[in-house]
Amino acid sequence: MNIVVTGASSGIGYECVRVLAQDVNNRVVAIARRAERLIGLKQLCFREYGNNITIVSADLSTLKTFESDQLALPSIDCIDILINNAADVMKKTFEETEEKDWEHLFNTNFFSVVRIIKYFLPKLKQSDEGAHIVNISSMAGYPSARKFPILAAYTVTKAAVCSLTELLAEEFRQYRIRCNAICPGAVQTDMLAKIFPHADGAVTPDQIAKFIVHFALYEKNLMNGQMIPVSRSNY
Ligand SMILES: NC(=O)c1ccc[n+]([C@@H]2O[C@H](COP(=O)([O-])OP(=O)(O)OC[C@H]3O[C@@H](n4cnc5c(N)ncnc54)[C@H](OP(=O)(O)O)[C@@H]3O)[C@@H](O)[C@H]2O)c1
Repeated sequence: MNIVVTGASSGIGYECVRVLAQDVNNRVVAIARRAERLIGLKQLCFREYGNNITIVSADLSTLKTFESDQLALPSIDCIDILINNAADVMKKTFEETEEKDWEHLFNTNFFSVVRIIKYFLPKLKQSDEGAHIVNISSMAGYPSARKFPILAAYTVTKAAVCSLTELLAEEFRQYRIRCNAICPGAVQTDMLAKIFPHADGAVTPDQIAKFIVHFALYEKNLMNGQMIPVSRSNY
């Protein structure tokens, strides 16, 4: 399997790569901005599992930078699984959120997903078994779930990711590409610490990563265009 994971330098994405790398048949591409973290992950995967993953340092909020990294993926002509996990958060209410904040979060959390799917679409179409796109949204963006006013822009970007997921599931049916979204509740990561430093009841990144990886690898034939809430609390 050829698998791309974005936002792989920390938290959920980092753990997804670690879980995936345990099977040496998985050829994993890990993307994020912080190169030193990615190098550490690459070394860990090689040392612990004998898996030589590919790392790409790129800012997904700007297509230009990402295009310049095209040469980093010369050996992969098809992608079986794309896990769109990279995102940023901002602790601001609607009243506090400025135009530039909306732009930053939409670029990072939504347009990056649009861009990376467009960018990889030719390779996703080449998957023998039909590719699976798994977008990591959030309970914040899940329809009718409790909303948090201090996460105004973040919430809306994650709802947009859910909507995109439903749309692409239909449009990409012709290519046998499945598209689903996972909506986690609280997970103990840097992102959660930034917004809810005293949250308890959060699951560990390792727990949610195991769920995401299993879902991405084995459940694509059961679901398409679904938003899956994975939460035991909602903050
Ligand atoms: N933690 C939670 O409670 C929770 C709940 C629901 C949903 N989620 C979702 O889960 C996903 C992972 O979040 P996390 O909690 O693991 O947070 P995290 O530890 O802060 O990880 C975020 C990842 O995204 C990457 N990233 C951010 N901006 C980027 C950019 N412009 N270009 C490339 N990579 C970028 C970061 O890497 P660099 O900084 O190195 O670029 C990092 O690897 C996110 O989509 C988040 O919305 C988290």
